[in-house]
Amino acid sequence: MEPILQLESARLVMRQFRDEDLADFAAMSADPQVMRYFPAPLSRLESAALIGRVRGHFAEHGYGLWALERKDNGAFIGFTGLGVVGFDAPFTPAVEIGWRLAREHWGLGYASEAAWTALRCGFDRLGLKQVVAFATRANEPSQKVMQAIGMHHDPDGDFAHPRLASDDPLRDHVLYRITREQWLQTLHG
Ligand SMILES: CC(C)(COP(=O)(O)OP(=O)(O)OC[C@H]1O[C@@H](n2cnc3c(N)ncnc32)[C@H](O)[C@@H]1OP(=O)(O)O)[C@@H](O)C(=O)NCCC(=O)NCCS
Repeated sequence: MEPILQLESARLVMRQFRDEDLADFAAMSADPQVMRYFPAPLSRLESAALIGRVRGHFAEHGYGLWALERKDNGAFIGFTGLGVVGFDAPFTPAVEIGWRLAREHWGLGYASEAAWTALRCGFDRLGLKQVVAFATRANEPSQKVMQAIGMHHDPDGDFAHPRLASDDPLRDHVLYRITREQWLQTLHG
């Protein structure tokens, strides 16, 4: 299958990361507010490495985290996309959906708009049967995006993130799911 390099929503172009995005991406990922539900903000080097991993994921799987560009002003505002879950858990193997936006672009519906577009791509074009999402339990803004795109909390799937230390307060994660059938129901009422 041809890689899905670009998607479009009403207000966003969802495209490949460009080298020129690094400054804005690194600034976003160094913002303690943006990263408050993660172990630590990222250094510029860590952000550059993450862009490298995103490109590698596209090369391997043909989809991944798309950089988000606002159509109205061309600004890079973050990422949203699909990824193969990179650790073992009772719900893996699975494809997850995720997002991160720069703070000045929160509260405008861009994350949900991009998430909806990525989810549709997963079911319509990639033929996925199910998509999962997870976040540390306290991350309510992220769970609101999950709910906005029709995902359901699966309490039986909640898990301790294996990449976090056992005494890390962020370790406790909630699991959300949506199946292709559930997604079709949200489309057709
Ligand atoms: C999670 C995150 C992407 C959510 O961003 P967001 O802007 O709150 O999410 P949405 O795009 O769904 O926007 C919803 C908000 O925009 C408002 N809004 C304004 N215009 C809107 C529109 N046209 N359509 C939809 N919502 C709109 C909604 O009322 C809602 O506001 P509220 O949060 O006060 O209820 C953001 O908080 C973030 O980047 N966090 C840091 C990274 C992170 O934690 N990522 C997830 C890890 S699991």
